[in-house]
Amino acid sequence: CGIVGYTGARQALPFLIDGLTTLEYRGYDSAGVALVTPQDDILQIKCKGRVAALAELCERFDTASTCGIAHTRWATHGEPSDANAHPHQDCDGTLSVVHNGIVENYQALQEELSRAGHTFRSQTDSEVIAHLVEDALAGPAEGDLLTAVSLACSRLEGSWAMALVDAADPGTIVCARKGSPLVLASTDDGAYAASDVTALAGITNHVVNLDDGQLARLSPDGTVEVFESDLSVCASPDSFDIDWDAGAAAMGDYPDFMAKEIAEQPEAIERLLKDRLTPKGIRLDELEMTDAEIAAIDRVYIVACGTSYHVGLIARSLIESWARIPVSVEPASEFNYEDVLVSDHTLCIIITQSGETADTLASARKMHAAGAKVLAVTNVIGSSAAREADGVLYVQAGPEVAVASTKAYTAQMVASVLVALFLAQRNGSLGYREVSRRFRELERVPGLIREVLARAWQDEAAAHAFIGAGSSLFLGRGLNSTTAAEGALKLKEISYLHAEAYPAGEMKHGPIALIDPGFPVVVICPDDRVRYKTISNIQEVKARGAVVVSVATDGDQKIAQLSDYLLMIPPAPEYYVPIVAVVHLQMLARYVALARGCDVDKPRNLAKSVTVE
Ligand code: G6P
Repeated sequence: CGIVGYTGARQALPFLIDGLTTLEYRGYDSAGVALVTPQDDILQIKCKGRVAALAELCERFDTASTCGIAHTRWATHGEPSDANAHPHQDCDGTLSVVHNGIVENYQALQEELSRAGHTFRSQTDSEVIAHLVEDALAGPAEGDLLTAVSLACSRLEGSWAMALVDAADPGTIVCARKGSPLVLASTDDGAYAASDVTALAGITNHVVNLDDGQLARLSPDGTVEVFESDLSVCASPDSFDIDWDAGAAAMGDYPDFMAKEIAEQPEAIERLLKDRLTPKGIRLDELEMTDAEIAAIDRVYIVACGTSYHVGLIARSLIESWARIPVSVEPASEFNYEDVLVSDHTLCIIITQSGETADTLASARKMHAAGAKVLAVTNVIGSSAAREADGVLYVQAGPEVAVASTKAYTAQMVASVLVALFLAQRNGSLGYREVSRRFRELERVPGLIREVLARAWQDEAAAHAFIGAGSSLFLGRGLNSTTAAEGALKLKEISYLHAEAYPAGEMKHGPIALIDPGFPVVVICPDDRVRYKTISNIQEVKARGAVVVSVATDGDQKIAQLSDYLLMIPPAPEYYVPIVAVVHLQMLARYVALARGCDVDKPRNLAKSVTVE
């Protein structure tokens, strides 16, 4: 979900709508605003659907207000509906709240509040906050919004980033945070709040970051005051500067963000690789560890979700084979409930594009508490992952707006290569010559991706194989069983066509039963050690009538004969093929989704950053 708020001299609504539009990738089930009117009432406008629908609805009202809060939702408790859209109000409608996160004890609170005479209008967990604040205002807080919010927070279990307005205190916005991000900005024309810095692009390049447990009061003169949970003043709040690239988050001439982000991959990787190789080897100052500490690493845990988890699978192979350290890769949502083997010599790498995925952050905290050193590989500067980890490697892919990750995926893979090379060099598993040779090969990857991008017509043609299909299979071996998994995930996410990925050799133990004439099978079969084995799998599916789409290396006549569609890649070192080959699968998924009439940037039911566990 996304939150924005503004109080100041200007009309609030234009910023609130712009801000929500920027944050829409965080959720787009429903959206709403609460404006404090010049008559010191609260005008709430909210509806199911996209921010554009909300903007249209707002045109019917007088929205001259200079103070308001707004929200775009990804439903957790309660279906997407007008009533469940945020903001939520207290009983008499004089107070509004927007909330990200989960109130875990909301049922108990709701029962208690109902018994005390409160009536609820929605099925959400968030609405209890408005009622708790209402009670506190009428009772111990004696009308002071900040005190009332702090009292309400002391009753909540779970996570929150919230912003509230109160008709009795017009012009003031009170915010609170625990476990869900919230940034604030103080400017000459007012004070701003947002759950993600991208909503503040073009407004400020200096933001205050609210820490867990803190509250803030925003005033129309632009003042931002930060308080600890006991309401003592925080004299030096955490803050950071942002170096905005004005065009980075705009779509420009591209038809959609996904197309733009696919095309940006070569430049993103070049940025990440710049100045990384020195006469002493790979420079990775981000991993602040001595040679002795690195030599002592007994185990690496990589924890991540979704697409980033796939990066972890590739990273495992590289770290194990180059740095000779045992690596476990776990989906964060599972890892948090596992008994893990941690010592002071364990390194935990969390991989998270957004740096805000709740499950991944919980894993990092668990590992930290158990004594491991935590390295975050992330794309978002100042994100929770970046701030909480011992070291942070920014992948520098630039803002990724499309929900399905593309450029962050390849940049995170390149970052993993750097980590693997760095560990191998520092613990002596690879010598300088070998490290620099592999780095030089890595520097060729952006050029290889450019060649693949120029072959988008192959993906457009292959998309025909999927249009009438009810399911599909993605096969690959070794590192490319992960490429298959990522290709299947991309297709599922944006085209809603079922896709299953399987290690090619395992296919005969079950999934082959799915294949009937016309069934699309994507096989990743580059010119590598296992090519001839994977060719047998192509033959097996072909013999059963599958439509075969092969990712193969230029000049491979054998695979050309066996395939219905070819997605050709230029020759590349075996360990870098996954970074190059996946670009075809990204483009393929996009063409299939477009052919099936889907919104490739905002697929249904998904959110770019999932800040609830
Ligand atoms: C969500 C997104 C996925 C993403 C995953 C992990 O589920 O829809 O595309 O891979 O979160 O996100 P992260 O920001 O932690 O990499």
